Amino acid sequence: MIASMARDPHLRGTRRQRLFARWYPRSGQRFEEAGQAELRERHLSSARGRTLDLGTGNGFSVPHYPAGVTDLVMLEPNPHLRAGLQQVTSRIRASRWEIVDGDAAALAFEDGSFDTVAASLVFCSLPDPGRALAELHRVLRPGGVFLFHEHVRGTGMHRVLHEVITPVQRLVADGCHPNRDFLGLLDRSAFTTLEVERLPMPGTHGGLVPLVVGVARRD
Ligand SMILES: C[S@@+](CC[C@H](N)C(=O)[O-])C[C@H]1O[C@@H](n2cnc3c(N)ncnc32)[C@H](O)[C@@H]1O
Repeated sequence: MIASMARDPHLRGTRRQRLFARWYPRSGQRFEEAGQAELRERHLSSARGRTLDLGTGNGFSVPHYPAGVTDLVMLEPNPHLRAGLQQVTSRIRASRWEIVDGDAAALAFEDGSFDTVAASLVFCSLPDPGRALAELHRVLRPGGVFLFHEHVRGTGMHRVLHEVITPVQRLVADGCHPNRDFLGLLDRSAFTTLEVERLPMPGTHGGLVPLVVGVARRD
């Protein structure tokens, strides 16, 4: 059980990271209680073996990894979320785990070194999501699976709204793009998409925060 960081653990992080860490854990908790936690439990139940959780945040997904996960690697670059993340480590079922600093666009792991990779609500925040998908594909073993749970741009008036609010949301939510077309990016990646479920984020109404939850495979 190692909490390692490639960089100094006392780094102050950026202003945007600090701001995000101030509100996200509390605000996110409301959605967990409204059904997001159940969704994570169901979706993550197929995770197995050595597993990478990308952009772990304060750890909402962490208690939902099943006993079949032997090693859990939690990658989180925001130092201000680390204290909250440390608190949930007592609920990890994997016999080995570590928390690491890093960047989705340049993962410091060997090719084919994970059985499962997972990301929840992360791709909206990445400056280069296409590169991150290529990195996840690289570190996954052939036959391994990518479990995704992402919020994506809406349709009709919601799509217009998502375009309009994106500049503000990027500032207050550490780079989050509500207008991101995650499935388009996934289609253009090397992954084979196996399942996609579309649903509203639990605790929200209509198409305000559309989610795509599913499974892709590295062939
Ligand atoms: C909205 S939060 C989601 C946190 C958590 N996965 C959850 O489901 O609650 C997005 C997370 O992505 C992380 N993140 C942002 N840029 C990243 C990058 N380049 N590489 C990896 N993670 C990143 C953020 O620090 C943040 O913790």
